[in-house]
Amino acid sequence: MQVTFDYTGATVMVVGGTSGINLGIAEAFAQAGAKVGVASRKQDKVDAAVATLREHRGEAMGVAFDVRDFAAVEAGLAAVREALGPFDALVSGAAGNFPSDALSLSPNGFKSVVDIDLVGTFHVMKAGFPHLKLPGAAIINISAPQAFVPMEFQVHVCAAKAGVDMVTKTLAKEWGPRGVRINSIVPGPIENTEGMARLAPTPDALEACRKSVPLRRNGTVSDVAQTALFLASPAASYVSGQVLAVDGAWSIGGVSGLMADMVKLFEQLKGA
Ligand code: NAP
Ligand code: COA
Repeated sequence: MQVTFDYTGATVMVVGGTSGINLGIAEAFAQAGAKVGVASRKQDKVDAAVATLREHRGEAMGVAFDVRDFAAVEAGLAAVREALGPFDALVSGAAGNFPSDALSLSPNGFKSVVDIDLVGTFHVMKAGFPHLKLPGAAIINISAPQAFVPMEFQVHVCAAKAGVDMVTKTLAKEWGPRGVRINSIVPGPIENTEGMARLAPTPDALEACRKSVPLRRNGTVSDVAQTALFLASPAASYVSGQVLAVDGAWSIGGVSGLMADMVKLFEQLKGA
């Protein structure tokens, strides 16, 4: 069986789309024919991502901004809309993560992650709203299992991503009548990503993670990207306000048991 999506003529903006999962999402839309904008803080990463996207079918452009700076987000999204047209889909995926127990985490460490993941998502949605193609546009926020699975050494991310999912649900109600669908994707443990390099930093940790997933494999960037293609498409035209885990059933089991081992590892690494 083969499933293909055709995004020819559509415009998709992926914030945080210059590496990892979000770049995979941007590439999938570009391969499907969309004009794709990406943004993140570092100009060199933005340039490299745009070069990669231009190897696919659609047009691409990039802008550099920090999602914590609302005025910069507004200016960046306006520039992409000017160049590529109003957005059929807007993906908000910029995030920061590092393992730290709460007693070692500084107030600014907690605040930094909340500011990037949660406040940044609000900034992207608020600044992006005037540039959505209405009715019919889709917003996808990239969440994480931490949003609903409490995890040691992740209090900052748990708080931030839980907030992201409530922003998803609240604005799905508020903006639904304006013709916008809003959903969260919750990636599971996705191989070859910065997130996994930080949270499963050894081959043993990666293998323990794989074994804890009911489908017995870590996920791929493509697993998440295919779900984004679905959620932004007419195939999902009645799907809104949902938090959709793409995680091999990890977050409904497996992950909680794994955390006991991960805490031991994080404690060892802290002491090293
Ligand atoms: P990644 O490659 O580090 O992606 C993060 C992206 O956000 C990068 O493009 C980064 O580029 C950008 N970014 C970070 N801080 C930013 C800021 N303040 N302003 C603007 N852009 C910023 O990480 P990833 O592992 O693929 O994670 C991508 C998303 O998936 C995140 O939302 C993460 O929470 C979620 N997730 C990942 C996993 C996993 O297994 N990896 C699991 C669950 C959820 P710059 O450095 O240039 O800013
Ligand atoms: N453990 C404990 N605290 C840490 C930390 C760690 N590993 N890394 C950073 N912090 C703290 C810093 O000490 C600082 O707090 P302080 O001012 O009280 O000392 C605070 O977090 C902010 O750090 P800073 O380096 O100034 O933040 P930044 O805004 O430049 O970067 C981060 C944000 C910290 C989230 C950084 O890791 C990042 O840019 N991440 C993006 C990539 C990523 O995390 N990808 C995975 C996504 S799942």
